[in-house]
Amino acid sequence: MNFKEQIDTTRLPKHIAIIMDGNGRWAKERGKMRVFGHENGVRAVRDTAEAAAEIGVEYVTLYAFSTENWNRPQMEVDALMNLLVKTINKETETLNKNDIRLQAIGDLKSLKKDTYKELMLAIENTSKNKRMTLTLALSYSSRWEIVDAVKQIAEKVKSGELTSQEISDETINQHLTTNFMPDPELLIRTSGEQRISNYMLWQIAYSELYFCPKYWPDFNKEDFYKAIVDYQMRERRFGKTSEQITK
Ligand code: FPP
Repeated sequence: MNFKEQIDTTRLPKHIAIIMDGNGRWAKERGKMRVFGHENGVRAVRDTAEAAAEIGVEYVTLYAFSTENWNRPQMEVDALMNLLVKTINKETETLNKNDIRLQAIGDLKSLKKDTYKELMLAIENTSKNKRMTLTLALSYSSRWEIVDAVKQIAEKVKSGELTSQEISDETINQHLTTNFMPDPELLIRTSGEQRISNYMLWQIAYSELYFCPKYWPDFNKEDFYKAIVDYQMRERRFGKTSEQITK
């Protein structure tokens, strides 16, 4: 039986966050430039989005470009940005056909003007779609996001809109760029690295972590489904005892 058939669709994670890692190593193993790895990662993005939509996952969030990635060689940064614009342009029609809404989180104002413009256009053109939300984390880092949320909240306290006593988990949630989606129940990272790399630190407080040894360009639908099967075999206790959960 394949992994897809083993999934209990009544207990799906609503939101799956993914750290797409290993493009550079995948290319290096083939004696190619790192950009070749990113180009080949696009197929895995498409397959993952399709796989998630097929079974009814509501939110998929992909770590496509971190704040720290700006420090990569200029040539790689430019190539990645071009690839993003090209892919977004090319895939908008497919997203619409599949009823998938595109969203983005991160310090989007730091993107190049044309990248930002194309992104906003694709977000607008897919905004009515209902089946799934595919979010790209772009120029994103969790610490940047938390600092930004703290600044917004501090301003509200200063202006009297909020008192410091009223600040709760929910206040923080509302000021994060992820405020339109639930926390991910499952976080997948490819390439065998077992790190979080400044991704959704607040939101993954109770997420299950799944590490796939494959490099991102090799990640396919069955790998995605395997991660969900693994997730469904785990017991999520949220700090309670096993007995309290099974009662
Ligand atoms: C990590 O691999 C991957 C990235 C920083 C970029 C991911 C981008 C894509 C897959 C391109 C298209 C994306 C979309 C959403 C259209 P790495 O370069 O860190 O690999 P390494 O760890 O082997 O060096």
